Amino acid sequence: MIFAVMFASVMSMSSFAAGRLSVQIGNFNSWKETPHGVLISADNARLSLTVYGPEVVRVRATQGEFSNMPSYAVITEPSGKFTSVKDEKDKLVLSTGELTVEVNKNPVLVRFYNKEGKLLNEDDPGLGISWLGTGTTCYKKLQPDERFIGLGEKTGNLDRRGSAYVDWNTDNPAYALNGDPLYTSLPFYIGLHNQLAYGIFFDNTYKATFNFGASNNRFSSFGAVDGEMNYYFFGGQSVADLLKEYTNLTGRIKMPPIWGLGFQQSRWSYFPDTEVLNLARTFREKKIPADVIYLDIHYMDAYKVFTWNKERFPNPSAMIDSLKDMGFHIVTIVDPGVKKEKGYWAYDSGLKNDCFVKYPDGTNWSADVWPGTCNFPDFTNPKVRTWWGNLYKGLISDGVTGFWNDMNEPASWGNMVPNLVEFDMEGHKGTMEEAHNVYGMQMARSTYQGATKLMDGKRPLVLTRAAYAGIQRYSAIWTGDNVASDEHMLLASRLINSMGLAGVPYVGADIGGFMGGTTTRKLFARWISIAAYTPFFRSHSEYNSRAHEPWTFGEDVEAISRKYIDERYQLLPYIYSAFYQAHETGMPIARSLAINYTFDKNIYNPDFQDEYLFGPSILVAPVSSKQNFGRVYLPKGVWYRKSTGKKYDGGQSVIVDAPLSDLPVFVKAGAIIPMQSTVQNTAQKGDGILKLNIYNGSQPNQYLYYEDDGTTYQYQDGHFLKREFAFNPTEKKITIGKAEGDYTSKFNKIEIVLHGFNAMNSVKVGRKTMNLQKGEGNTQTVTLEAAKGETVLSW
Ligand code: GLC
Repeated sequence: MIFAVMFASVMSMSSFAAGRLSVQIGNFNSWKETPHGVLISADNARLSLTVYGPEVVRVRATQGEFSNMPSYAVITEPSGKFTSVKDEKDKLVLSTGELTVEVNKNPVLVRFYNKEGKLLNEDDPGLGISWLGTGTTCYKKLQPDERFIGLGEKTGNLDRRGSAYVDWNTDNPAYALNGDPLYTSLPFYIGLHNQLAYGIFFDNTYKATFNFGASNNRFSSFGAVDGEMNYYFFGGQSVADLLKEYTNLTGRIKMPPIWGLGFQQSRWSYFPDTEVLNLARTFREKKIPADVIYLDIHYMDAYKVFTWNKERFPNPSAMIDSLKDMGFHIVTIVDPGVKKEKGYWAYDSGLKNDCFVKYPDGTNWSADVWPGTCNFPDFTNPKVRTWWGNLYKGLISDGVTGFWNDMNEPASWGNMVPNLVEFDMEGHKGTMEEAHNVYGMQMARSTYQGATKLMDGKRPLVLTRAAYAGIQRYSAIWTGDNVASDEHMLLASRLINSMGLAGVPYVGADIGGFMGGTTTRKLFARWISIAAYTPFFRSHSEYNSRAHEPWTFGEDVEAISRKYIDERYQLLPYIYSAFYQAHETGMPIARSLAINYTFDKNIYNPDFQDEYLFGPSILVAPVSSKQNFGRVYLPKGVWYRKSTGKKYDGGQSVIVDAPLSDLPVFVKAGAIIPMQSTVQNTAQKGDGILKLNIYNGSQPNQYLYYEDDGTTYQYQDGHFLKREFAFNPTEKKITIGKAEGDYTSKFNKIEIVLHGFNAMNSVKVGRKTMNLQKGEGNTQTVTLEAAKGETVLSW
């Protein structure tokens, strides 16, 4: 017996000495039903398949026990089951009615088919699900011409085929144009081939790698250094369907505060209070609309979070009151590191309540950030999240309404983060290896939940740099420390669009570039024009950089900035309705053309891959500031240049003028775009006229208009106004649908603005004939009283 044990241990030592090889899942042994799926036992691991909906199946595999750690991303439970299970000689065939999952037996391999029996996705026949030490990877056979899109904040091309990426949230200042990893981990991507689309969400928070055929043409793969093979497979008819399912699983954005959709001015840092007030006054004097001013780290006392520097800001609440009177909100930066300083109340409170991340020996982990040596709250502990959320009390009672969580990868100065520091992980205990990628998200969650509790029913704005899947429930994201260059400006469009493809709609990049050079007047002008058509619209720049306010680049740039900021405010009814759509369906605001024109190969051409739709029908074609013309690809259909009304046939690329004062922006024929008069901030009512722009086209179109008070959560109790606008060119009518909900619109009139309806002089409104007036450009208009019931215009 003793000999046998010794022999076995000698054997295992010698096999260790011979090196470690990967292990595949192996051959099939048996299967059994579970409440929502099946559990399969294979030679080297167990595989579970669980139904989350007819088009959503979760795949898990482990060599040990399945973990019972709850997901930070997923908010829905399994539902339904396989409606048929066939145990055949060489495979199990499981169907949900919409999806068929085939499990090959020898070896165990998973394949997904759609309802028509078309293959969506299959494991690589030789590699399948594998382990290498604690690491696990799933290898998928590459399909002919397969493309990959999404994966969130990743540099590179729209089509990610041939690239590989790592998810490990990283403070990556002045990131390279192909730099990776950046600040966030949003491990959802979409595969496209043979006119088919599927989605994969790899819900594993350890350091993960995604390989989209970067090794060869054999496989794509996703894997992590530890944890379970744990992914959700999504089938669907379209990219929009996949986004709907993915955001059903991981949650959707709540309606943001409307002021967070206005123009936001930031810099590192505005101080003292008089400078902040001057800044606000200058916006108003110059009639450049704006809603938000940001206070970066210098507002604090020695960078200690939740404090004010008393010399620079002797009376914060008085300053904020004056700003409020001018229609401004204040957002303050709040980093995770709490300065280690006895007598500093936040630190003392953190110590007393045992809130900080620790080494296994029970001492607090420290690292250096802005305030010097800090301890770091364990945001994976629900008790700590509540504690931190309450620390905002002071800032909130001073009148601050937005919170900017930065450095939450977490970042520190040149300190190698030790992987063994320990986290609560919702009571399941884990180390930095597992907690790292969710740290920023849990910080933003704590901020969001604390602030909503303390703000008397008002919506806070939360902005985060680091994030994990599901962050859309709590926060907006900006793309971190970008660079003042044309290439970065164009990259920002792809980053923003790609985050939209990973379920995060409220995103933006620092206008003008945060660092790495001097922002030229041309670059600023072009960047602010493009950013006016992005969901999160903020100018920000680093310490000691040249001034970045719209009037500091000369009169012509000031005029261009004002023009595009005005346009942004005019578009707010359209933008707010797009946010409502994101809230209801997960459809992003900035929509990569891959959402609507998925199988048009031209949109993946690197020359055109930065283009996107802003909301349902405005196409934005970013052009470098060094060019005064641009080659733009217009997908099939008919398009109008927004600035001139000129019509173009789509399905081709066109060369268009693109002076700094006129970014190429197009509107889809048939579009319905509600706009308003220019206001100086979002709280202003304007002239009370909703301008309903209709662009003539041959296809009928519908549009869901949404409005609420913009600042509270009362919309959740029916205090909203929702109505459908429809344009039907064959029946020659425009319908303003009946208003739903009990919110009274801020608009008492609706002006119909017709684009491209040249030969018309009048329309019938009900039975009454009304003459059309000549509007701006080539438009014709008619103005109606806004009634709650249905109104039909015909001609
Ligand atoms: C980080 C942030 C940047 C901020 C700076 C100072 O670099 O990414 O936006 O201005 O810290 O707080």
